Amino acid sequence: MSDPMADLERQLKPYRDRFPSFRELPPEGLARTEVTGLVEQLASAEDCRWRDGYASGAVYHGDPEHVAFLSQIYAAQSQSNPLHADLWPSATKFEAEIVAMTAAMLGAGHAPPETPVTGTVSSGGTESILLAMKAYRDFARERRGIATPEIVAPVTAHAAFDKAARFFDMPLVRVPVDGGFRADLGAVAGAVTERTAVVVGSAPTFPHGVIDPIPQIAALAAERGVGCHVDACLGGFILPWAEQLGYPVPPFDFRLPGVTSMSADTHKYGYAAKGSSVVLYRGRDLRQFQYYTLTDWPGGLYLSPTFAGSRPGALSATCWAAMVSIGKSGYTEAARRILETGARIRDGVAAIPGLRVLGDPLWVTAFAADDGLDVYQVMENMSHRGWSLNGLQRPAAVHLAVTLRHTVPGVADRFLADLAGSVEEVRANPGVSTGMAPVYGMAATLPADVVRQLLTGYLDMLFEV
Ligand SMILES: Cc1ncc(COP(=O)(O)O)c(C=O)c1O
Repeated sequence: MSDPMADLERQLKPYRDRFPSFRELPPEGLARTEVTGLVEQLASAEDCRWRDGYASGAVYHGDPEHVAFLSQIYAAQSQSNPLHADLWPSATKFEAEIVAMTAAMLGAGHAPPETPVTGTVSSGGTESILLAMKAYRDFARERRGIATPEIVAPVTAHAAFDKAARFFDMPLVRVPVDGGFRADLGAVAGAVTERTAVVVGSAPTFPHGVIDPIPQIAALAAERGVGCHVDACLGGFILPWAEQLGYPVPPFDFRLPGVTSMSADTHKYGYAAKGSSVVLYRGRDLRQFQYYTLTDWPGGLYLSPTFAGSRPGALSATCWAAMVSIGKSGYTEAARRILETGARIRDGVAAIPGLRVLGDPLWVTAFAADDGLDVYQVMENMSHRGWSLNGLQRPAAVHLAVTLRHTVPGVADRFLADLAGSVEEVRANPGVSTGMAPVYGMAATLPADVVRQLLTGYLDMLFEV
């Protein structure tokens, strides 16, 4: 049976063997040309399968001209830090406009003037979610007198909600999903109590790419006087355009009066460089519970809107540049290509005997296998053919999140042909279990503590030189 630690070691070894390692600072600095050469060699040694569309998600745009454009903007702003608004007012301008443009795209125009949609830029989807949950916790304690505020979230909501619950000591009440992998409304209603700070819905979910019944969740939250966070990290920059293109998208944003906050990732389908996302709130109050201020520190009066202190203003500049250079027409065209490719892939997977598409997704296709066929072995066989797909569990499944890389002619056909070939091979050799297949099998049978120890050991290994 394969060992995930050994697999990681195998992946890292060539890099450790072929390139110099630094366990302490070199006595004399290396020449810049030498360092540039090393970094370029590392980049070219890295297998850029994502460029040819072999990866699920990961790189959402990736066209060379777009990447070069973002790098040029980064270079022009590399010293910028929004913590010092006096030195870099441009960083503040970029961030305010990123928030305004994202809010306008997500229904802010429907909010009454006394409670405008507000927000901040963060470093990614996880930070946006953590920030919102912390804001709800502190709001619930101070304004609603709840000692231990709770989060109610479907089991399919992103792991970041669990992370928030653990970091901020907020009990997380997980509710089941229905047969279509959407939040079970009866279960959500039953889970909301006087301790609930916020109810969560996803548009769409990470695992299965389906949209929770947001209008009903938001109405329930409003009726019970609790917050409603819509996690649109994945869909925020696709669904508004999908709706205009005529796809069946229920209202999921600030057009619904019950929606009190949202997360939308600019570094996914906003096509910005990695390290940026937006968290939005209905009104100014909740956002103020996100802020941090310190008045009696010898280091001076201190204030920061998010978790970090100093932040990379250059990333906000590249995010702003991506948004204003792509514009509504560019995002609509990108969404059209992604949704068309998503539909082809979903229908193509459904037509492969032995595989079953889970739920009714638009562009993230999750599939499970019939009895007698191990879907993780199919994923492993796909990885031998170059594909990097996402393994899911409960139930055992695999998904592909379609990005612009998959809309390049030939990529979808290659995926479907490889998938059909992998299914046939696994059927012919059902007992041969390698790579991630036994790891997922093992995770399903071992006690949670043991699996946690394995994952912790894996993280430890990442920091060995
Ligand atoms: C629905 C959803 N929420 C949150 C996240 C977390 O985003 P990040 O990895 O940027 O922290 C993801 C990431 O894929 C996601 O799909």
